[in-house]
Amino acid sequence: MSSYQLEKLGATFGARITGLDLRDRLDQGSARRLIDDLTEHRLLVLPGQKLGHEEHVRFSRIFGPLDVYPVRQYVVPEFPEVLKISNIFQNGKPIGLYDGDDQIEWHTDYSWKTVMSRASLLYSEIAPAEGGDTLFADSTVAYDELPESLKREVESLRAVHSMNYLVETERRTNPHKAPLTPEERERMPDVAHPLVRVHPVTGRRSLLLGSMIISGVVGLAEADSSALLDRLLRHATADRYLYRHRWHQGDLVIWDNQATMHTRTPCDHKEHRRLLYRTTVM
Ligand code: SIN
Repeated sequence: MSSYQLEKLGATFGARITGLDLRDRLDQGSARRLIDDLTEHRLLVLPGQKLGHEEHVRFSRIFGPLDVYPVRQYVVPEFPEVLKISNIFQNGKPIGLYDGDDQIEWHTDYSWKTVMSRASLLYSEIAPAEGGDTLFADSTVAYDELPESLKREVESLRAVHSMNYLVETERRTNPHKAPLTPEERERMPDVAHPLVRVHPVTGRRSLLLGSMIISGVVGLAEADSSALLDRLLRHATADRYLYRHRWHQGDLVIWDNQATMHTRTPCDHKEHRRLLYRTTVM
């Protein structure tokens, strides 16, 4: 019998879970319940954990197989399933994936892949005193509350998700961002996904958007595509669909990439250190 406590977090989604120490092996009942709670609430926050990489990886596997991030310098060498996300520099180089000090794009992890990520588990090792919050958007209720005419308009449309487009856009403001090498471009080709996706477990529809990774909607002229994407993104990131996570050391946040989007608020790397470890469920 699983024994943890759960309280709802955001207006439409998210839950905070207490009463679990993830260093302990979970019994099957708790594991099953966590999987179901993630499906139902789309975002789970488990504060006060003390996770090593091994425990992080072991716990994450409950949700499915884990990916290894394609840029090797960003992963923990002994645990390549663990991606470092950080604004800390060593010898002039970022120690992990670093997207600059400004707000990063709204996105869903691995939308640039043909097979996207099911869930991500982000663990905070060093939390900044100021900035670097992660904002999550409930793409499912945002879809539910679209006007019916707009639902019909977007139902069968597809958008192109392009890692190259994202990196080139980021390079305009982030001097540390390297362009994709020809080999990386080949490994991460553009991919078209539906604007509306159907959750494989709940059958609920949600919007699959991104503020910088989408180069356009297939079959629409550039101006029409931009106008539609802007309208959808404005709707989907309205305050009523958001949960803002202010990080503390030891927080583990799990989100369903099939039903949410997220972004990070600005964080000045000269003032505040930030180090998180992410596993990515496929
Ligand atoms: C991520 O996109 O997975 C990381 C978000 C963050 O750095 O807060």
